[in-house]
Amino acid sequence: MASIFYFLLILSFIFSTQIIFTKSKPLHHSHVPKPEALIFPVVKDNSSHLHITEFKKRTPLKPISFLIDLNARFLWVNCQGNYLSSSYNAPHCHSIQCMDAGARQCHNCLSKQKPGCHNNTCAVPITNPLTRRIAVGELAQDVLSIQTVNQSIPGTSAIVPRFLFACALSSSLQRFPKNVQGVAALGHAHTALPMQFASNFGLPPIFAICLPSSSDKKGVVFFGNTSYALHPGLDFSRNLYYTPLTIGSQGEYLIPVSSITIHRRHLVIHPKLASKTTGFVSAMISTTTAYTILENSLFRTIHEVFTSEMLRASRHTRQVKAIEPFTACFANLTIVPKTDVWAPIIHFTLHKKNVTWSILSSNSLVEVEKGLHCLAFVDGGKYKDGHGQAPIVIGAHQLEDNVVQFDLEQSRLGFRYALRFSRHSCSAFEFNPSPPQGQ
Ligand SMILES: *[C@@H]1O[C@H](CO)[C@@H](O)[C@H](O)[C@H]1NC(C)=O
Ligand SMILES: *[C@@H]1O[C@H](CO)[C@@H](O)[C@H](O)[C@H]1NC(C)=O
Ligand SMILES: *[C@@H]1O[C@H](CO)[C@@H](O)[C@H](O)[C@H]1NC(C)=O
Ligand SMILES: *[C@@H]1O[C@H](CO)[C@@H](O)[C@H](O)[C@H]1NC(C)=O
Ligand SMILES: *[C@@H]1O[C@H](CO)[C@@H](O)[C@H](O)[C@H]1NC(C)=O
Ligand SMILES: *[C@@H]1O[C@H](CO)[C@@H](O)[C@H](O)[C@H]1NC(C)=O
Repeated sequence: MASIFYFLLILSFIFSTQIIFTKSKPLHHSHVPKPEALIFPVVKDNSSHLHITEFKKRTPLKPISFLIDLNARFLWVNCQGNYLSSSYNAPHCHSIQCMDAGARQCHNCLSKQKPGCHNNTCAVPITNPLTRRIAVGELAQDVLSIQTVNQSIPGTSAIVPRFLFACALSSSLQRFPKNVQGVAALGHAHTALPMQFASNFGLPPIFAICLPSSSDKKGVVFFGNTSYALHPGLDFSRNLYYTPLTIGSQGEYLIPVSSITIHRRHLVIHPKLASKTTGFVSAMISTTTAYTILENSLFRTIHEVFTSEMLRASRHTRQVKAIEPFTACFANLTIVPKTDVWAPIIHFTLHKKNVTWSILSSNSLVEVEKGLHCLAFVDGGKYKDGHGQAPIVIGAHQLEDNVVQFDLEQSRLGFRYALRFSRHSCSAFEFNPSPPQGQ
């Protein structure tokens, strides 16, 4: 038993030292500097309102678009779409890589041999986060290229020569935004991107997302414990608020919510929604859900209190016919000069009274038509204790223009909300990408 452990340890050490920098000194350089951190860009898809990233894989390197998924354990990609790469490798069934990935099933394929189709490799389950359909993919390894960053200044590209991922069929892409070929997995698993980058580059297992609110400007994901200088001289990694981060039964990221207030009105939360052990209501963080989903009783309370506060506090605002999937829509909102429209602030108090995640108008409302704003929450129906998802699923719209850090080492979530209120945003990061560094 012990000898297997040491063998794995040595093997992972061998893999972790195989870092090749493409710009400075390739391959034979013996003292490859560790990058300080890594980044990839994020764009917002106009039609699905979900967030997409792009990075290069394969040999020769090819840019591929992925949906950002905080709950996926494997990066997976459609291999039926003309996968050409001289560095594709599918580990044999029962190999160390398969064991390491928790793949206990062997994979066989009856059609012509190609990426995703080999005999005696291993199979891993992959989930389409939009349909929740589960399929099987071939576990594979190939080159992945990612941009380095030091003190928020983008640097050269770094290569992971044997990035572990799953090769899926094109049928797994149902309902995906156009041209998106797979899922960039940010889940809590050592096969997901944060942990593979951590072990390959010797970085701490910390990452942060800063999702853009419009499709014409890029947001950013940072890997490593680094400064988040979204604006020159303004480091958002300082003064984050922290709350404990726990992992749910499906591997999902959860934070504790103790109470909710809307513009000073305290909401009554049904006790059945709170965990019997901790007393908190769990909120899951999801980038594959466009708008926050609330359990039915919670949704109705928020809808009612928000609507009445909205109409009470601003004279000209009118409630108008709702547009699906929303239930409360407003016209003639009060515009607050230079910041935003006026809306009652929704405060989620977390594990302590003084740790609050506040949702201001750019995150609580969505402009569905010019001058017509809707409350950007949707009804999740009745909550079934112990089944399905958390009573609160914080969606992408509520995460936009917020810095959200997942510290997997200290099991805490760091956040900085409503950047737009202080006239900042996730789209101000200077990418200035260096030109592609092919091999
Ligand atoms: C980052 O930049 C600083 C100052 O420019 C330098 O001293 C340091 O070595 C760099 N770190 C890495 C990992 O390149
Ligand atoms: C896998 O094995 C089966 C049965 O031996 C064979 O028909 C098939 O062509 C093989 N597939 C590949 C991809 O080699
Ligand atoms: C998405 O929105 C941006 C900015 O509003 C626009 O430039 C772009 O053409 C849109 N793309 C599509 C596919 O509609
Ligand atoms: C990350 O950096 C901060 C500040 O430099 C430090 O307090 C913290 O311990 C670091 N975390 C890890 C996991 O290295
Ligand atoms: C909004 O205000 C304008 C002018 O003040 C008015 O003509 C219009 O009817 C109002 N719309 C609604 C939906 O109340
Ligand atoms: C909250 O209060 C605790 C003491 O109870 C303090 O240590 C902590 O810094 C406070 N946090 C914030 C975000 O103000």
